[in-house]
Amino acid sequence: MAEKQRILISGINRGIGRALTMRLLEDGHQVAGLNRRPSSATSFPIGNSESLKLLQGDIRDPGSCSAAIASLMETWDSIDILVNNAGVYPEDPDAVFEDVAKDDFRLAMETNFLGPVNLTRAALPLLRNAPAPKILFMGSGAGSITTKEDSRSYCYGTSKAALHMFARTLGYELKPPVWTVSVLSPGWIRTDMGGPNAELGIEDIIDPLTRTILSLNSTHHGQFINRFGEKGHYQW
Ligand SMILES: NC(=O)c1ccc[n+]([C@@H]2O[C@H](COP(=O)([O-])OP(=O)(O)OC[C@H]3O[C@@H](n4cnc5c(N)ncnc54)[C@H](OP(=O)(O)O)[C@@H]3O)[C@@H](O)[C@H]2O)c1
Repeated sequence: MAEKQRILISGINRGIGRALTMRLLEDGHQVAGLNRRPSSATSFPIGNSESLKLLQGDIRDPGSCSAAIASLMETWDSIDILVNNAGVYPEDPDAVFEDVAKDDFRLAMETNFLGPVNLTRAALPLLRNAPAPKILFMGSGAGSITTKEDSRSYCYGTSKAALHMFARTLGYELKPPVWTVSVLSPGWIRTDMGGPNAELGIEDIIDPLTRTILSLNSTHHGQFINRFGEKGHYQW
């Protein structure tokens, strides 16, 4: 087994975040999971108070992210990998512009773009204490400007495009050989967000996704990778 890692993940009570947490705990890593309602994430059949830390926090609120990290600091002195996973898809994907609720733009931007900004900023002191810290942002092909060819997903796509730009900018400040900063899209997955018609189940992606997260290195830095860690599948 690879060296044990300390991994902070946002949004672990369902979907990809939950499956990733389960797999990392099975493999002997330590996970800190941030959720708005941590009680809904306590039903993990694996993990104990040593290996799984449940943190309460809303990524839209910088103070809440800082408080969550402060409580983590009581037991952890470093974070090896931050997985900015939590996200929302608030809208009807087919709504025309005039019908898109203003609040949906706000919710998407506050969660998918500012949320990872808030959590990353709060986690920086603990990331800095790791020998080779990694920051992963869950991006999306829907946030690709280069390949945009429809008028769907105004709010989600715009917020992920903003996230991609933030991640790429950050990667010019936090650089190898110490840092790795990457954007990853898992593919279209059957979760509450992806819906029942998505092409892949979580079970199809969790192995390569976990392997890629644990093996992030300078070759992934500043790149928009897929769940296999490959560049080129997605474009900015
Ligand atoms: N599924 C796909 O097809 C797909 C494709 C490309 C990219 N992605 C990305 O992958 C990530 C995970 O997606 P998923 O499919 O697993 O989504 P999901 O099943 O809808 O789960 C979303 C998670 O984010 C949490 N969350 C939402 N807003 C939050 C907030 N303000 N503060 C803290 N946690 C919050 C949710 O917690 P609550 O229960 O409290 O709401 C939940 O745990 C997202 O960033 C998504 O954009 C997914």
